[in-house]
Amino acid sequence: MEVVICADAQQQGRLAGEVVARLVGSRPDAVLGLATGSSPRPVYADLLARVRAGALDLGGVSTFSLDEYVGLPEGHPAGYRTEIREQLTDPAGIPVERVHTPPGDAEDLPAAAADYERRMERAGGVDVQLLGLGTDGHIAFNEPGSSLASRTRVKTLMRRTREDNARFFGGDVDAVPTHCLTQGLGTILQARHVVLLATGEHKARAAAELVEGAVSARWPATVLQWHPHVSVLLDEAAASRLELADYYRETWAAKPAWQGL
Ligand code: GLP
Repeated sequence: MEVVICADAQQQGRLAGEVVARLVGSRPDAVLGLATGSSPRPVYADLLARVRAGALDLGGVSTFSLDEYVGLPEGHPAGYRTEIREQLTDPAGIPVERVHTPPGDAEDLPAAAADYERRMERAGGVDVQLLGLGTDGHIAFNEPGSSLASRTRVKTLMRRTREDNARFFGGDVDAVPTHCLTQGLGTILQARHVVLLATGEHKARAAAELVEGAVSARWPATVLQWHPHVSVLLDEAAASRLELADYYRETWAAKPAWQGL
């Protein structure tokens, strides 16, 4: 696991954007794993700037999103499918038939979950997976207690997560669905490279557990310690509870520029 303590969200966006740009430069039909929420937005802004400057063509990629609320109608403004299309895939010119989101409005959710896994497998798996981090340590919507081997399935959201996300529902926690369809921790572990972004003091405990805590379903993100290629991009506030922060800073400062994440 590589930990980079960034000056700000813009630097996080640039570093993660560079990973995607390099990948797509050598593999125009790469498979991107996309996250929603505020954390990946600087990455999408960076990618769109590259696209607009003519330095990057995302038209050949496929995307798979991590999760979706259950029960929101197609096109709901707070739905993750709407969000990802607005934030990245539509402006980047990625054809909508290659933009995949777990179908939270499916009638048969277990069947839809199994089908989502099959679609990811048929696409050849995810090359780069972007991740945010919940204040309770969740990744995607894998709340505490999630099986470390879990696959795409329905989960119940914690009250804390619904409160955190109420800002996308006009501040009304009761408008936030109680359930979601989410990739599992075992699904996420299969991505070839994982890039996680977290900012703010409210993420500091979860970030410290992720990087330095014991692997445990209590803090689901800790499962990433089992992954061979993870880049954790934190701002100073999110890194404020790391015991070994100085070591991560020295390591990053001494890293040859050509190496990338
Ligand atoms: C949501 C999403 C996660 C996201 C997390 C953090 O619950 N399901 O994928 O990583 O919240 O969100 P944010 O980046 O807005 O803090």
